[in-house]
Amino acid sequence: MPSPQRSTGLPDVDAHRLLTRIRELAKIGADPRGGVTRAGFSAADRLGIAYVADQARGAGLEAEVDQAGNLIVRRPNADRSRPAVLMGSHLDTVVQAGPLDGAYGVLAALDVVQVLAGYQEPLRYEPVAIAFANEEGALFPCPFWGSLAVSGRLERTADDLVDRSGCSLREPLRAIGGDPDAVAAAKWRAGSIGAYLELHIEQGPALEGTGNRIGVVEGITGRTVFSVTVHGAAGHAGTVPMDYRADALTTAARVVLAVEELARSQEVCTVATVGRFQIEPDVTNVIPGVVRMTIDVRDLSPQRLRGAEEALYAALATVATDTRTRVQVEVTDRITGAVTDPGLRATIRAAADELGLPSLDLPSGAGHDAQMIAPVAPIGMIFVPSEGGVSHVPEENTSDDDLVAGARVLLRTAMRIGLDDPS
Ligand code: GLV
Ligand code: MN
Ligand code: MN
Repeated sequence: MPSPQRSTGLPDVDAHRLLTRIRELAKIGADPRGGVTRAGFSAADRLGIAYVADQARGAGLEAEVDQAGNLIVRRPNADRSRPAVLMGSHLDTVVQAGPLDGAYGVLAALDVVQVLAGYQEPLRYEPVAIAFANEEGALFPCPFWGSLAVSGRLERTADDLVDRSGCSLREPLRAIGGDPDAVAAAKWRAGSIGAYLELHIEQGPALEGTGNRIGVVEGITGRTVFSVTVHGAAGHAGTVPMDYRADALTTAARVVLAVEELARSQEVCTVATVGRFQIEPDVTNVIPGVVRMTIDVRDLSPQRLRGAEEALYAALATVATDTRTRVQVEVTDRITGAVTDPGLRATIRAAADELGLPSLDLPSGAGHDAQMIAPVAPIGMIFVPSEGGVSHVPEENTSDDDLVAGARVLLRTAMRIGLDDPS
């Protein structure tokens, strides 16, 4: 069981309730291969959203799904004219994910709103919890769909977004409670978000490695995603002599190594990853004719990201020339990084200090909905340690003590910014 917090005489999160909800939600979309798979707008995602909405309604809170499929939870009779201290994250996952990425931040935000529903003092900012739709984009390739809609920056429509089998988002969005013809109405009006707070597992090794309990996020990485197609020449695996070949797969292998080199040796960006890879025709006795892959390049600095893009084009041109193949490259996503608000950082640090929790300022290498909200509201992010620094895998874990500690910091931070007199 989590260790008791220092007594402050102030409202506290309900540790047992929070941990129980985390465990129950992890069963929804449990993947027979291991981990949890609740791809955004899938049937499992729908069940996850329904679970959280039921928990909220069962606690006497108001829960509604907006036009873009975001679940929003408010106190009963919430004052909608006040700016919100909006708190949340996402419920969708990657394939065979862990139980905490996104879900933890949503369930902690729900607990905070539930606690503050019973708080009698007037709050300057109305506490609101949100589960943003499709942060990961595992099924429909538009990560941050929900937070882009809330900040009014969504450029795609439900009709032009299709999954791998060619089905549009229209029906899945409707099934989740959204409205494919009115997604733009999910935008929050200017000034209505007084602050956005996202509590999340770190997904990296810094907190565990330094013995800190709380991370105060300084900024969130930017990211450029490329789609690359290598066009070689398919042929008979037994009859085409090696010197006559234009093998798309051996060329693709060079591309993969060049991508690694960009981040590792050239250090033009922080990290670079080939995450998807498809071979055509994918047959034992045929020389691969076409290979498709994705490249995900990340850095906090927009200048370094642009530099990495130039370096990537140069590397791919060299590979293509050396191998007599055609290497086609296209940018499919440019996600701008974001800096967190210095005032919110100080408030999070103060909340951690008040609870006796050592904290560390650190950057985020993972993307978060917070970065989509950053252009329209001040953002703050709180991290808790990830055991072994791992995430996006079934082994993802954080101790109960740390999960509860993070939720307490979220509550104290929300109260500090929500109360006229936060003492
Ligand atoms: C989101 O989880 C990311 O890929 O950073
Ligand atoms: Mn993730
Ligand atoms: Mn996440």
